[in-house]
Amino acid sequence: MISSKLLRVASSMLLVFCLVFAITACEGPEGPQGPEGPQGAVGPKGDKGDPGDPGDPGEPGADGTAGCITCHDMSTDLVARVVQWETSTHAIGGNFNRNGTSCAPCHSHEGFREILETGSTTTAASIFNPTPVGCRTCHNIHQDYEKSDYELATVAPYTFEGGVTFDHGTGNLCVHCHYPRPVSPMPVVGGAEVTITNSRYGPHYGPQSSMIAGTGGYEVPGSLPYSNSAHTSMIANSCVDCHMGTPNGDRTGGHTFSMTHDGSSPNLSGCTGCHSGADNFDVNGAVTEITALAAQLKQLLMDDGILNESGLINTPQTLSANKAGAVLNWRFVWYGDDSKGVHNPKYARALLQNSIENYNK
Ligand code: HEC
Ligand code: HEC
Ligand code: HEC
Ligand code: HEC
Ligand code: HEC
Ligand code: HEC
Repeated sequence: MISSKLLRVASSMLLVFCLVFAITACEGPEGPQGPEGPQGAVGPKGDKGDPGDPGDPGEPGADGTAGCITCHDMSTDLVARVVQWETSTHAIGGNFNRNGTSCAPCHSHEGFREILETGSTTTAASIFNPTPVGCRTCHNIHQDYEKSDYELATVAPYTFEGGVTFDHGTGNLCVHCHYPRPVSPMPVVGGAEVTITNSRYGPHYGPQSSMIAGTGGYEVPGSLPYSNSAHTSMIANSCVDCHMGTPNGDRTGGHTFSMTHDGSSPNLSGCTGCHSGADNFDVNGAVTEITALAAQLKQLLMDDGILNESGLINTPQTLSANKAGAVLNWRFVWYGDDSKGVHNPKYARALLQNSIENYNK
């Protein structure tokens, strides 16, 4: 009796031992031989003790460090990214406190993660403790506590109003915030006059993706065709390949997301693979040319009293479709996209050139 109780105690102690041991080893050790049987002085040996369950392998990092140190280790993998990110507009642009339900999805970390879950375009309520777009916004930090937490929050393709889809690898992440909000009223080629009442009329402010996709402009026919540059199709991860090129410390590239430092010192690491020998963005003078076209169109709009020097509209304005389209195209190419045409030189050039030609028609 007593001995068989002892045996149970011994084997359950063994099990506990196995479980503890198994947190670091994947399979429990085989149990020791059981104690001698209880049948008097000369009885046969008892059964072997239970070898014990193999034991639960333990949650990854359940001991508090195993998973953590794949990121929080002596390397500077993580630190370097933090240092770069800290100088980025994502970190210091200051607009993360645009926390209303229709702004928070792109402007705050909390809003973005919420709409990824809900699939909505607005948050349920304003975000009262907003934080800037950071590590946890783009990566799944502190979810599995493994290196796999660096996976991107989403790489789903994005379809614009009008049906064109942007699908360029990791660059898809960026588009979930850098897409234009709908333009209203949208002028129709050959259509009626439109009245503009918002001084910031045009695509709000991240239309880089639709520029690259070649959609969303006012496409009045003119001497230039509406086609896309090689940048649209040939750059596998689009945004990421150019903006997250080889970092120059905390100035450009990598997690600074920046192409230039202090408005100069271009980071050409994402260009020279195709434009060997380029020493600035102005390949074949296209940036100079597009800059001049944008200035010409802006001057037409200013001479007409439609636009002011800082690029805002003197509202209200009731305009022909072509003039409203000219406002839209200038605000899209110059004010919104802000790449001086580099994102899609062919589409940008055609929008400006054809708007100039058709300005008074
Ligand atoms: C996938 C990589 C990764 C893993 C795995 C990971 N972390 Fe982190 N951790 C981060 C990142 C990224 C930050 C944010 C760094 C920053 O903003 O400065 C962070 C920040 C922290 C911070 C600072 C406070 C905070 O929340 O920002 C602590 C503390 C921390 N981690 C603890 C842990 C512990 C404990 C584990 C394991 C249980 C762990 N981390 C696993 C990447 C990781
Ligand atoms: C969660 C939304 C979000 C995601 C995802 C996102 N951005 Fe941004 N990005 C913003 C916002 C908002 C700003 C402006 C921040 C501010 O002014 O406070 C911005 C600013 C920028 C700027 C600086 C613009 C300037 O005028 O200085 C660049 C460049 C940029 N983003 C590139 C990228 C790239 C490349 C990616 C993908 C790797 C990306 N962004 C992903 C929301 C996002
Ligand atoms: C679809 C995503 C998205 C939404 C929704 C959005 N924004 Fe933005 N916003 C951006 C991005 C991306 C930038 C940075 C673009 C750049 O610098 O080229 C930006 C920039 C800005 C800026 C800086 C502009 C400048 O000239 O420096 C302000 C201010 C701003 N947004 C206000 C708002 C407000 C207010 C709302 C809500 C009514 C809002 N945004 C909604 C994506 C968005
Ligand atoms: C705007 C989005 C964005 C933000 C914010 C961001 N990252 Fe990233 N990160 C990316 C993208 C995109 C990549 C490239 C992924 C790829 O090519 O697979 C990347 C790559 C990385 C990598 C390399 C991952 C690997 O698998 O080797 C690390 C490490 C990293 N980021 C850390 C951070 C840290 C730390 C922060 C915060 C300081 C941060 N990231 C903020 C978008 C972002
Ligand atoms: C062909 C390389 C290339 C690709 C692809 C690309 N960009 Fe750019 N981007 C540039 C260059 C070059 C500029 C102009 C920088 C300058 O003149 O300072 C720029 C400008 C910008 C700006 C204006 C603010 C700034 O930093 O000057 C934003 C925001 C931006 N890009 C975001 C994006 C996003 C989002 C994507 C993907 C949808 C993207 N870019 C794809 C090269 C690229
Ligand atoms: C994958 C290859 C590739 C990469 C990467 C690339 N380009 Fe291009 N780019 C081209 C090709 C091909 C053309 C030819 C004309 C076209 O289709 O627009 C071109 C055209 C241009 C033009 C217009 C030239 C003209 O004659 O009208 C400019 C400006 C330009 N690229 C700048 C850049 C910059 C700046 C970068 C880096 C930030 C870059 N490109 C990265 C392939 C590339």
